[in-house]
Amino acid sequence: MDKNSKNNIAAVILAAGKGTRMKSELPKALHPLCGRPMVRYVTDLANDLKIRRCIAVLGHKSEEVKKVLPPAIRTVLQGKLLGTADAVKQAVPLLKGFEGTVLILYADNPLLTRSTLESLVRRHRENNAAATLLTAHIDKPAGYGRILRDRYAGISGIVEEKDADDFQKDIKEINTGVVCFDMRRLREALREVRPNNLKKEYYLTDCIGILYSRGQIIESVRIQDMQEAMGINSRAELAAANKIMQKRINDAFMEKGVTIVSPETTFLSYGTRIGQDTVIYPFTVVEKSVIIGKHCIIGPFAHLREGTILNDDVVAGNFIEIVRSKISSHTLAKHFSYIGDSRIGASVNIGAGSVTANFDGKKKNVTVVKDKAFIGSDTVLVSPVVIGRGSRTAAGSVVTGGTHVPEGATVAGVPAKILKKR
Ligand code: UD1
Ligand code: MG
Repeated sequence: MDKNSKNNIAAVILAAGKGTRMKSELPKALHPLCGRPMVRYVTDLANDLKIRRCIAVLGHKSEEVKKVLPPAIRTVLQGKLLGTADAVKQAVPLLKGFEGTVLILYADNPLLTRSTLESLVRRHRENNAAATLLTAHIDKPAGYGRILRDRYAGISGIVEEKDADDFQKDIKEINTGVVCFDMRRLREALREVRPNNLKKEYYLTDCIGILYSRGQIIESVRIQDMQEAMGINSRAELAAANKIMQKRINDAFMEKGVTIVSPETTFLSYGTRIGQDTVIYPFTVVEKSVIIGKHCIIGPFAHLREGTILNDDVVAGNFIEIVRSKISSHTLAKHFSYIGDSRIGASVNIGAGSVTANFDGKKKNVTVVKDKAFIGSDTVLVSPVVIGRGSRTAAGSVVTGGTHVPEGATVAGVPAKILKKR
């Protein structure tokens, strides 16, 4: 640990909550934003800030949540969900002997950015504060804790919406939930928090009033972009946050030289890779773990599912679904196709309406189409099947399971028979 404890920093991520308002069997922390569990955006922030001591407090369905966390994050269990102060208390034993700054993050605040947190930590350190809150001003503050200020405009506490009187409800300055504490002050304050509120919970936010009454310095940083402050508690908020995250992802691709014709109707998962000068037409949905090369044309109405890899200069045109498949360069699949569990070579033409029948009712089978093959319109490839290099299927053929069409041959009919050898 740094001799100058001021520079030490640890993070506690609160992720134990059930997310009652989501009305879901899935724990809130695992609800995805752009294909990724929301808690992962928060663990990324801790990682970006190079916080090596990072503790996640888990509770509801903890085993499920633990599975998605990066291994460097330590976890602790909150046995009963008695509130955010109780959650932080569970992490305190893991911070035994630690002195310095503790950054508290909530799993349901995934839109925060690194620069915001950096300025929060900086302010906290510069002022030697006991606590530094990240606050925001919003027109409709419903649902958030309100910031209380004394007559010198110093922060004197936080009141939760449920416990606020009508005057307090009018306050537009809210608590984002993100806060830096001096570890020693936090330990002291936690001991004094009592569940004196309507929900009978131990509120972390009460630590602020406690520290204030002891004459400690409470600082704050006001968030610049209100959207960042958003806490996700309901499905409607999830949808709103998803839209914001999607815009960030799409903007980043455009910045890197990808054309997105209609960003509002293009849904690219977090972690998608797309090469320069690829053009994405409207109503394209890209699920996780998809890689798209350079100069590709995708959509409109394309659905690229998990495990799709497209090399350079591929066209995956309108009404196409691809899953767990690799397609090599210069291959064209321009009109309504389903390609599943396939390895498609280079410079292949996949005619309109062609599909792989990859599921035999029990398991998925593999389709291999070699370079320069020509798949006629409306071909059904019943896998497992191999279409040889440069071979052709006539329109409407059904290539039955187990067939290996030799190199350069032409097949036709139902079931497809060899018309012409090379
Ligand atoms: C909290 C804040 C509120 C703030 C808002 C910002 C408190 C008391 N209130 O309210 O001031 O404006 O966030 O979004 O802190 N959690 C646990 N264990 C528990 C309870 C909650 O780990 O026993 C976790 C949840 O998983 C969640 C986070 O703490 O990640 C916040 O809990 P939540 O119930 O969403 O608090 P809010 O009502 O949104
Ligand atoms: Mg919340």
